[in-house]
Amino acid sequence: MDKRKSDGTKMEVEPEQQQLDGDRRSCSCGSSSTVPQLAELSSDDFQAYNRLAELMNLYHNHFRRTWNMLYQICTSGSRPAGVSIRACITQGLQLCQSLTMHHTMEERYVFPVLAERMPQFRENDHLISQHEMIHVGLVKMEEYLDTCLGGERELRWPEVKEIMDSFGEVLWKHLDDEVDQLGAENMRKFWTKEEVLSMDW
Ligand SMILES: [Fe+2]
Ligand SMILES: [Fe+2]
Repeated sequence: MDKRKSDGTKMEVEPEQQQLDGDRRSCSCGSSSTVPQLAELSSDDFQAYNRLAELMNLYHNHFRRTWNMLYQICTSGSRPAGVSIRACITQGLQLCQSLTMHHTMEERYVFPVLAERMPQFRENDHLISQHEMIHVGLVKMEEYLDTCLGGERELRWPEVKEIMDSFGEVLWKHLDDEVDQLGAENMRKFWTKEEVLSMDW
């Protein structure tokens, strides 16, 4: 059966990887050791274990789409037909507010449960550190767009781009990293299928 990525698409397996997926896996120190192999997941089990990754990816795709729309305007300097500057500013502000709310909900309700067994979701670890870096950029962007909306400043797209560039890399990495962590092959290492199915936020 094909291996799949956490977003459900087929994973290309390199020949070397296929070999490693056999009886032995090499560790980074150069020696090799025998590790227990997890049985391949049935399609139903994969879906069950992968459900949080798919759900998260839906939210993240919404953020990615809005980001791309705004970034495209920043780089081209032209807006889609019929879209006013005010509408663009509103979209930008909504992106900042939705991302902030999304991260707040994750840290309040989702991460504490996952962090019981998954280190990456703990405070001061990878994902929350990314949230903190993203937050710095979101505050800057929201302040800039707010002053444009209030008429205190004239919107200049290169300035918006500069702010977006200041946190774009960590934001996009985070949107991928979080989904990867919630992917079936990772989740099954920490939780039973029933536990994953009972995680309802
Ligand atoms: Fe998320
Ligand atoms: Fe997040």
